[in-house]
Amino acid sequence: MNTDFSFAVSRRGLLIAAAGAAVSASLRSVSASAVEERRIKAASGQARFGGPEGPSTAVWAYDGSVPGPVLRLRQGQPVRITVENELNEDTTVHWHGIRLPNAMDGVPGLTQPPIKPGENFVYEFTPPDAGTFWYHPHANSLVQLGHGLAGALIVEEASPVAVDRDLLWMFQDWRLTTDGQIAAGFGSMMDAAMSGRVGNAVTVNGAPLADQPVRAGERVRLRLANACLARMMALRFEGHRPVVVAIDGQPCDPHEPEDGRLVLGPAMRIDAVIDMQGDPGSRHAVIDDFYDGLAYTLTTLAYDSAPPLRAHPFDAPVGLTRNPLPEPDLGTAERQEIVLQGGMMGGGKLAGVGGMMGMATPVMNGGAAWAINGVSMTGDGMAGMEPLFTLPRGSTCHLTMRNETAWWHPMHVHGFSLSVLSRNGAPVRHRQWQDTVLMAPKDVIECAFVADNPGDWMLHCHVVDHQMAGLMTVFRVN
Ligand code: C2O
Ligand code: CU
Ligand code: CU
Repeated sequence: MNTDFSFAVSRRGLLIAAAGAAVSASLRSVSASAVEERRIKAASGQARFGGPEGPSTAVWAYDGSVPGPVLRLRQGQPVRITVENELNEDTTVHWHGIRLPNAMDGVPGLTQPPIKPGENFVYEFTPPDAGTFWYHPHANSLVQLGHGLAGALIVEEASPVAVDRDLLWMFQDWRLTTDGQIAAGFGSMMDAAMSGRVGNAVTVNGAPLADQPVRAGERVRLRLANACLARMMALRFEGHRPVVVAIDGQPCDPHEPEDGRLVLGPAMRIDAVIDMQGDPGSRHAVIDDFYDGLAYTLTTLAYDSAPPLRAHPFDAPVGLTRNPLPEPDLGTAERQEIVLQGGMMGGGKLAGVGGMMGMATPVMNGGAAWAINGVSMTGDGMAGMEPLFTLPRGSTCHLTMRNETAWWHPMHVHGFSLSVLSRNGAPVRHRQWQDTVLMAPKDVIECAFVADNPGDWMLHCHVVDHQMAGLMTVFRVN
């Protein structure tokens, strides 16, 4: 990690200069903006999750690195991304959280043919929203994401919030064998019907857990992204007060989280602004205590001995400019409800779900452990999936999600961001929009969105084993 603070300080100047440049650019050009070109290649590779001295792990990677390269795009600027498939199996790329045309959404069978080995696919879209997003395959998802195919996608604001440093922590976890290889056994019914494939080794940006160097007095924008298959996280920053400024890329009213924990289900992102108010030379743990009795230190904020960067706390406002999301009209909304069913119950029994195939059927062969409204759609998405409901284009959908299971589920919608209205009857404050909503056992969540984007869209749990085993549906906008 970067410890050169003279660089960090001058970067702030750069950020401000960049913001000025963006403003003058937007004043200058109404003419067609040039399309940005990007290329990424999916192929097998090697990683060192234990650091340079650790064992070399066989992985699948974008451009040879796990996680893949950080794609930095600009809000409103068209981009063309060529994806090359050098894996030995079909793949696609899904741009998680980006509101884009349905044909660019990366769901094999549903929105595009899969990219065959040796072939390319060109994704073209214009990100309407600035924020922290990510990309990953939507084909053989459990195995492909579980072997390292994931990367961050940052859409830059025209005028970013003023900070000294912009840091990204992308979390992944791995179930490693004693010789440091990714363990087999993807899609076991045991994982699928319970908490999913939670690993035994967590990495941050592909590296083992290590200190995060900081300097007294600096203000950091921290972009957190949970790219784990199944692990939920809840981060506490000892001695610090992170202010949440965006969730799933969408700016919210800046707020300190209740009880101080930043909770991230798989696929969720949080942007937080943190003032480093500790003393020079001090150390403060960042603890993940989501699972009772399994708390561990994710990283330690390690202050260098330099005097504080500034005499007074940074007092610039932390709020981000909101993205151009259409405001739901609850008065005329269509009401829809989805009910999450299935999973393991007390006593080692599966709750009955429609189309269930029994404990012996491995999920990879289409076994179902979960259902939405009585139907189990398994796998990654496929041709001919019947939509659960259809919304007229431009209408507001008021969606109730009811978790009748005994498990946590980060429910993710493609193509839209949801205005989260209430949780178990209590209004959700801070004007939060999310593409992935974490539901505790028995939670009932109300949310709303404007169905302005035509196509067939997926809605699924992002514990990938759950998705593969039936916790998935499709709805249509036309
Ligand atoms: Cu990250 Cu179907 O999505
Ligand atoms: Cu998605
Ligand atoms: Cu789930």
